[in-house]
Amino acid sequence: MEDERHRAMLEHFGRLPATRRFHAAAVVLELLQSLELPPSPRVLDLGCGNGLGTFDVARAFPHARVLGLDPSPGQIEAARANLRDLPLTNVELSTGYVDNLVDNFDLVVLLQVIQFFENPVQELRKLRSRVAEGGFLLLSTGVLPEGSPGREFARGLLERFIPHTRHWFSESELRGVLGAAGFRVERVRPDPWRLREVNAERQAILAEELRRWGFGLEAVEPWMKAVYVLARAA
Ligand SMILES: C[S@@+](CC[C@H](N)C(=O)[O-])C[C@H]1O[C@@H](n2cnc3c(N)ncnc32)[C@H](O)[C@@H]1O
Repeated sequence: MEDERHRAMLEHFGRLPATRRFHAAAVVLELLQSLELPPSPRVLDLGCGNGLGTFDVARAFPHARVLGLDPSPGQIEAARANLRDLPLTNVELSTGYVDNLVDNFDLVVLLQVIQFFENPVQELRKLRSRVAEGGFLLLSTGVLPEGSPGREFARGLLERFIPHTRHWFSESELRGVLGAAGFRVERVRPDPWRLREVNAERQAILAEELRRWGFGLEAVEPWMKAVYVLARAA
């Protein structure tokens, strides 16, 4: 059953568009700029998808060697096609999981991926073991508000917006997961979801959920956000 579920998830990711990002590039770049890395750092973008974020990191750190790793062969193929015409010589792309890693990294980027991990603490611990002394983790994911009914509404909406999601955390739960995996949170940058800007398919889902719960858009908007977390190997 778990294998079946995993296969369905990979098939879904394989069909994601080659030109769409699932993170806010400006927020990622702002946080990356605050980092002090060694002169020739090793960087991992785990769950790199179509590679657009990976290439930003490679441009931000031209002296870095950047590995984009993703379990979806379709996404890695898309990333290779996206890379083909770019003047970047410091990027390597590969299909795989955290278990396939042999190197250590000074920075790991994990953008909109943790929610798909089967066991987030376990996966993050494995990742932690691949982070060099003093190294960084930059992670983003959607977070749920702490209290009811915001939490239930946000979870229901995110699960419909983003198929194959396994976990949504509140900010404090996310901090707990990172702490349990051996990361110390240094910065948390919220990024509100602009619900008015979601695509037509999601507008229809949103309208249905608002009707079902009897909420107006203004009431639910403050509940919906992603966070960008900068953490350090503890
Ligand atoms: C929503 S996309 C995010 C892609 C990219 N990071 C971005 O922000 O645009 C999620 C990606 O996570 C990958 N993924 C799913 N499970 C994973 C796992 N266990 N380890 C690494 N990546 C995973 C998927 O294949 C998919 O490409």
